[in-house]
Amino acid sequence: MALLFPTLLFYLLSLPLLVLSKSTIEPCSVSDSCNALVGYTLYTELKVSEVAALFQVDPVALLNANAIDISIPDVDNHILPAGLFLKIPTICSCTDGIRKSVSTRYKTRPSDTLSSIADTVYAGLASADQIREANSITDPSVLEVGQILVIPLPCTCFNSSDNFLPAIYLSYVVLVGDTVPGIAARYSTTVTDIMNVNAMGTPVVRAGDILAIPLPACASSFPRYASDHGLTVANGSYAITASHCVQCSCGPGNLNLYCTPASLAVSCSSMQCRGSNLMLGNVTAQATSAGCNVTSCSYGGFVNGTILTTLSTSLQPRCPGPLQFPSVVPPPTFVNPDSFLAPSPSPIPSQPGGAMPTPKTSFPGTFSLPGVSPASGPAGSTSQASPIKQLNHFVNAINVGFFCELLSQEGMQQDFLIAGNGFQFMINDAHL
Ligand SMILES: *[C@@H]1O[C@H](CO)[C@@H](O)[C@H](O)[C@H]1NC(C)=O
Ligand SMILES: *[C@@H]1O[C@H](CO)[C@@H](O)[C@H](O)[C@H]1NC(C)=O
Ligand SMILES: *[C@@H]1O[C@H](CO)[C@@H](O)[C@H](O)[C@H]1NC(C)=O
Ligand SMILES: *[C@@H]1O[C@H](CO)[C@@H](O)[C@H](O)[C@H]1NC(C)=O
Ligand SMILES: *[C@@H]1O[C@H](CO)[C@@H](O)[C@H](O)[C@H]1NC(C)=O
Repeated sequence: MALLFPTLLFYLLSLPLLVLSKSTIEPCSVSDSCNALVGYTLYTELKVSEVAALFQVDPVALLNANAIDISIPDVDNHILPAGLFLKIPTICSCTDGIRKSVSTRYKTRPSDTLSSIADTVYAGLASADQIREANSITDPSVLEVGQILVIPLPCTCFNSSDNFLPAIYLSYVVLVGDTVPGIAARYSTTVTDIMNVNAMGTPVVRAGDILAIPLPACASSFPRYASDHGLTVANGSYAITASHCVQCSCGPGNLNLYCTPASLAVSCSSMQCRGSNLMLGNVTAQATSAGCNVTSCSYGGFVNGTILTTLSTSLQPRCPGPLQFPSVVPPPTFVNPDSFLAPSPSPIPSQPGGAMPTPKTSFPGTFSLPGVSPASGPAGSTSQASPIKQLNHFVNAINVGFFCELLSQEGMQQDFLIAGNGFQFMINDAHL
């Protein structure tokens, strides 16, 4: 403690010179992973394929996660405007005891510095210091052009639930002018929930902080051996799975995951339910004196290249209404200045690039999102009511913490605020 004090004093004195940012860290022990979203604001105009390459995600998955129409010809080359906010789907894994996404690689360009990569290209999702550490860079002033860097991205799983309901967590970089009530309103959550999830003592954030925002989602109940086990889709969006053969949607009417064959999917295994003439996503309803006899053929996961289907019949009090799909938007071409999607854009003109080669996407045909209810009408089987996941992280957010400070050789500082019982804690990254 005696040794700590002078550095703490230095830290306090130099506060005005520092840009402090906090992010929520979720400790983890098992090597499982979950679906998560990373909120990214485009620093410059980028093609859909370029944004996808920056994060090494499938462009179709990227568009699906943002409910952007994928049936537009050549949508891969559509240019998205600077300042646009996108949710990037990612896999959140457990690395070195904390949740993070470590699948993103960046290939350095001539004028790159760790700060420009961190603050500009990845819009504050990673700090220069985190990139330096993740790549064991001893001298950050010497970056070789073409060097491949791991970009650690913040993410949380929290058991894919929030307040006992299925959720997917969005890592949100706070922008200038953001307030916690404003963020809560935008994502249909509450200030209390954001404070609990992020173990905050006061509802105060600064630009650059990274919050975990729980989004209501549809959970799947695919078996553990399915490659898409744990698939979670945010309300109002879509996901593509089973090698582009199956598309799943969530909301808006209920939070039951609903999957159908992706249109024009090629070389897919059978999507017909055994012992019936129903295809994946088909629901039949028959009013009887006892109630409504609902039969549905639903998606059960992707196993060894095989699409699992489940045929289920249930007697429901009422026949389900017409099927609703999340509304799909055309690929944005401008940022609405009134929209929350628009954070006062001050893009740094720069050539899009530096991203790793586009992952092998190759659209297998043209996809079309179901924008209108298909004639098949009724839907909403209860057969796939997934067990509601439970989570108690919100009880653990006691915020009387303590600081311990680490001062590294480069003068970078990291403060750990360990909340309550240590279930959750915050990291502060300070850079000069
Ligand atoms: C899902 O989204 C729709 C509209 O986007 C909204 O009306 C509905 O309340 C949301 N459901 C939940 C559980 O948040
Ligand atoms: C419900 O429908 C299924 C398939 O159409 C049928 O096999 C089953 O006998 C029906 N059950 C009742 C109670 O009508
Ligand atoms: C999937 O393939 C693996 C080996 O390739 C095999 O051990 C396993 O039994 C298969 N699972 C199913 C459900 O067919
Ligand atoms: C069954 O699903 C397929 C594929 O989504 C669709 O083309 C077809 O119209 C559906 N049939 C019925 C009877 O709902
Ligand atoms: C996570 O959710 C599952 C149910 O989906 C539940 O059994 C388990 O206890 C939960 N874990 C925690 C730590 O809340």
